[in-house]
Amino acid sequence: MDHARYDKRNYPIVGVQEGYGDWVRTYEQTVLDEMDLRLLERLETVNWAAPEVILDLACGTGRIGAWISQHSPAILDGVDITPQMLAVARAKDIYRALYTADITDTGLPAQTYDLCIQSLADEHLPALPPLYAEVARLTRPGGHFVLVGYHPQFLMAGMPTHYDRKPGEPVTIRSYVHLLSDHVKAARAAGWSLLEMDEGLIDEAWLQKKPKWQVYAGLPISFSMVWQKV
Ligand SMILES: C[S@@+](CC[C@H](N)C(=O)[O-])C[C@H]1O[C@@H](n2cnc3c(N)ncnc32)[C@H](O)[C@@H]1O
Repeated sequence: MDHARYDKRNYPIVGVQEGYGDWVRTYEQTVLDEMDLRLLERLETVNWAAPEVILDLACGTGRIGAWISQHSPAILDGVDITPQMLAVARAKDIYRALYTADITDTGLPAQTYDLCIQSLADEHLPALPPLYAEVARLTRPGGHFVLVGYHPQFLMAGMPTHYDRKPGEPVTIRSYVHLLSDHVKAARAAGWSLLEMDEGLIDEAWLQKKPKWQVYAGLPISFSMVWQKV
């Protein structure tokens, strides 16, 4: 479902490459670790010491890659569709290789990775089945797929992904609402089995950094899922 159905902000909408190609200037100062890194810290079914090769899908500026390199000795590759985001990731010097590609059709060789991870990009995909199918193709049998997503309930509360193009000039990056059941259906059809799921709420930690979000207190803003390839 297009987010426009739920949008209460009605900012101008830009595409993914235009949006992230511009937001890259301030992206790392804007995205809070409560959104995704806090959920990664909480995972119970992933032994980060085990994988030899990890793929960071929609790696952006390498925030997730930086976290992984602190928690895992694995070799790390990354994929993203926005060259400007990849340039920042490249400068971190933590990836073996970085590819400019769509995460639903990477062109990378099959069964290459022990673990794949995708954080905060699935809301930009019109449909989920191509993502789960592509990650299943890339992952070795028994391997894992960790997905951290922007919560559909938060999108449905009216706030799509957005940033300030200029001070006081917010724009939305085109987003789609995927229900949690859409994830389960797409993942199961691609041969994934769910090991773990969690949700992150707007709590005190959030409100200390974003006091204006009191109106969203208690709502889920992000979620994590750990899938295993059967
Ligand atoms: C919110 S950022 C997340 C970046 C990083 N994973 C993080 O957590 O900081 C979303 C990223 O997804 C990328 N992206 C969105 N749709 C994509 C697609 N279909 N294929 C590849 N990358 C995509 C964007 O270019 C952007 O870098």
